Amino acid sequence: MKYVIGVDLGTSAVKILLVDQQGTVVETVSKPYPLIHEKNGYSEQNPQHWVDETAAGLKDLLETFNGNAEDIEGISFSGQMHGLVLLDDNKEVLRPAILWNDTRTTAECQRIYDVVGRERLLEITKNPALEGFTLPKILWVQKNEPELFAKVKSFVLPKDYLRYKLTDKLQMEFSDAAGTLLLDVTERQWSREICDLFELDFTMCPQLVDSHEEVGTVTPEFAEASGLALSTRIFAGGADNACGAIGAGILEEGKTMCSIGTSGVVLSYEAKGDKDFDGKVHYFNHAAPGAFYTMGVTLAAGYSLSWFKETFAPEASFDELLSGVHDVPAGSNGLLFTPYLVGERTPHADASIRGSFIGMDGTHRRSDFARAVLEGITFSLNESISIFRESGKTIDTIVSIGGGAQNEDWLQMQADVFDAKIVRLTSEQGPGMGAAMLAAFGCSWFESLQQCADAFLHEDKSYFPIEENVRTYRKLFSIYQEVYEKTRDLNSKLLEFRK
Ligand code: XUL
Repeated sequence: MKYVIGVDLGTSAVKILLVDQQGTVVETVSKPYPLIHEKNGYSEQNPQHWVDETAAGLKDLLETFNGNAEDIEGISFSGQMHGLVLLDDNKEVLRPAILWNDTRTTAECQRIYDVVGRERLLEITKNPALEGFTLPKILWVQKNEPELFAKVKSFVLPKDYLRYKLTDKLQMEFSDAAGTLLLDVTERQWSREICDLFELDFTMCPQLVDSHEEVGTVTPEFAEASGLALSTRIFAGGADNACGAIGAGILEEGKTMCSIGTSGVVLSYEAKGDKDFDGKVHYFNHAAPGAFYTMGVTLAAGYSLSWFKETFAPEASFDELLSGVHDVPAGSNGLLFTPYLVGERTPHADASIRGSFIGMDGTHRRSDFARAVLEGITFSLNESISIFRESGKTIDTIVSIGGGAQNEDWLQMQADVFDAKIVRLTSEQGPGMGAAMLAAFGCSWFESLQQCADAFLHEDKSYFPIEENVRTYRKLFSIYQEVYEKTRDLNSKLLEFRK
């Protein structure tokens, strides 16, 4: 039997999957690493932790593996998007990585609009300037840490740095490069125009490769640290959302995914890169050859729920916290939550907005709040679905993955709020499975990713909209949509008190 490995370099942990030729997940290992929040809005990580914990995770996995390391034919990667890793002449890391959920760059986003112009930026990159993206982070370091910036020779994204430490080859692949705001997304090449406008040395941008491309083999040092065989072939991999989409079978027009992790996304396949969504949703290169996808992002999706649990019910498990939700009616007895705990992306690109509970009543209990949190996250994701529908897309079936697919009440809620059939997969493994599939396709186990998906992915259960709930949620959603405008000023006045 042959195997592939999918490494998912997430925000809180690296998750490693060992997958056989039938698509069965034989082993999984997860190793956490810390986030550094030096100031309000800052979010950084030490890239060395990614490398060390991946090596340690692979070592653990190989120790319990009932086969030989040589049987592992390929390995590929999925990674948290947008994070900035700056390297010097010797490819040494110059400072902690600035992550996707770091919001310090509002001024740099404005500068990008001032210098490039919104229209031109959308023409080239297909995306607006958002705090989470990579170019604003580069500009922040250029302005605030000029001495360090003078030493910069190249930049990479988290999983590309990890792969560099495995192979000694520095590359970036298209699906992650698309989230930098330096890529001409349709033409699939770095934008010299944008580099020149900000006096960035064009050679900073690494060589671009396809996600399923074979990019090297394991160095003797990493083989020693991890137990991997020198013969294991290494494939480039993709952005976590692109890999999540592959792992959910979003490989043809008409397929949509809802993924709820720390952040939440609604993602839809696009065959072409030349549509115009006016920057309302993200428009990125897919990790599937030649394809694209559009995506709306809720920054604090699963994070809203874990924040709520840690703050108000630290002793409860998630199952305990959500056990009462089933008995609370749709609409949480008039309690409405907006999940803007760390600002928002879609449809309100606003780093300063914060969340609200509206309509608190003396009769509300913890289960009402828990249901309101789930509903608020789902409403936020529904904003993205509304944008897709307004653009003429038909969205009637959605594959749900991540934390949102772990709870039956939440799955039914998605069906009712989205007014669409929700599909749960058997043994859903998220982006790590997409990475493993890229390796399986790269190793020529299959002629296409679709053929791989047909063999590896299986539908488990479907959830259908309940008409009465759909009606209730339609009314509530329009109230939810008012909360942003009505609380924006209040939140900007509160900004000075946030320490
Ligand atoms: C997408 C985004 C997040 C991260 C999470 O634009 O910022 O979904 O990819 O890892």
